[in-house]
Amino acid sequence: MTRIRVGLLGIGTVGAGTFTVLKRNQAEISRRAGREIAITVVADLDTNRARSIVGDDIEVVSDAQQVVSRDDVDVVIELIGGYGIAKTLVLAAIEAGKHVVTANKALLAVHGTEIFAAAARKGVIVAYEAAVAGGIPIIKALREGLVANRIDWVAGIVNGTTNFILSEMRDKGLDFASVLKEAQRLGYAEADPTFDIEGIDAAHKTALMSAIAFGIPVQFDKAHIEGITKLERVDIQYAEQLGYRIKLLGIAKRTDKGVELRVHPSLVPARRLIASVEGAMNAVVVHGDALGTTLYYGAGAGSEPTASAVIADLVDIARLQGADPAHYTPVLGFQSASLNAAQSSLPVLPIEEVVTSYYLRARVSDEPGVLAKITTILSEHGVSIDALLQRESDDVLGEGADQTDLIILTHRTREGTMNDALASIQSLPTVLGSVVRLRKEELN
Ligand code: HSE
Repeated sequence: MTRIRVGLLGIGTVGAGTFTVLKRNQAEISRRAGREIAITVVADLDTNRARSIVGDDIEVVSDAQQVVSRDDVDVVIELIGGYGIAKTLVLAAIEAGKHVVTANKALLAVHGTEIFAAAARKGVIVAYEAAVAGGIPIIKALREGLVANRIDWVAGIVNGTTNFILSEMRDKGLDFASVLKEAQRLGYAEADPTFDIEGIDAAHKTALMSAIAFGIPVQFDKAHIEGITKLERVDIQYAEQLGYRIKLLGIAKRTDKGVELRVHPSLVPARRLIASVEGAMNAVVVHGDALGTTLYYGAGAGSEPTASAVIADLVDIARLQGADPAHYTPVLGFQSASLNAAQSSLPVLPIEEVVTSYYLRARVSDEPGVLAKITTILSEHGVSIDALLQRESDDVLGEGADQTDLIILTHRTREGTMNDALASIQSLPTVLGSVVRLRKEELN
């Protein structure tokens, strides 16, 4: 069979890993793919660095534009990232009839609908296993392995940088700012880590998973996103005392009213396997009606782990080369004609309509009746209390302090209802400072 010729755009960390793994496992990969997969041209602005990685046998160019339409390229791998030139190149490659493999979650989360429609028109594949949870084959699992199931929910730790920061905050009792500096020193967090720590990267990935889980269009713009920048170590410690760990979860959940699509720090029972996912690792839990709960764990970033997903996509394409596009796996796992119809029956819900349980922490004057007033307000709003803790936080409060922390775990309630109750609690003169509210997910 003829070999598949690949044009690689961008040979940074993941590109270099892709080259290395393809070369190292060439014979095995060819046996699996049924044909040879050969990188024939690499485009990178730093041509010297690119040559030092791929040697003299592979052509290196600085202009990615000329690669996407070349006759000797069948598949374009886009590893440039971002929404700018990457979008232009991906659309140009599709227009030229090339299949595309990309790890670019930001691009697909924001422009996926346009890109997938262009690919469908041209009869080419856009593959993106590496875009969500790095090397973990979660796209394959959701789109193919779980195809019999009605997916109820997906919840994942899909950003390694923030999971590393949260792990360090818990293990070492450090605050967010100092762990972030350490993460940057170790090379986990970017110099500008905004997308990671503000939850945007996790939301890109969760928006993609929600589309595949429920057969709806990718709707990143409707996701509710909170990062970890405001998380205080004292809440990590209190959560621990109550039997929970705090994780930045990306959650996509089907309800009677629509789809919850949200990224925020969440309390997770310490006994759940996902609560033990530490450091920069990723994990995704999926609940389907037939199979029940499954957990997918592994490296969510890094050179060869992400290359593993990129090459899996290349092999899929190699196996399908020459096939009728009608035989391709649908890009979001559902026939595209059904996506828009599902959007109206499964709208993404505003955060006020989300139903979950909560962790509340109020710093209050330590005087009679304070607790009673707070619990009365919760009761008046129909919010039921699950657990309650009163603690004097060592790091803030000294001996004989006249302030204390009240920590309340609630049962499930509507977020809009909780907002109203919190506004009333906040207005009590005995409540000092802002009440901390975190969401709690039992994941059962
Ligand atoms: N910045 C991402 C993370 C890299 O920290 O997980 C992989 O998408």
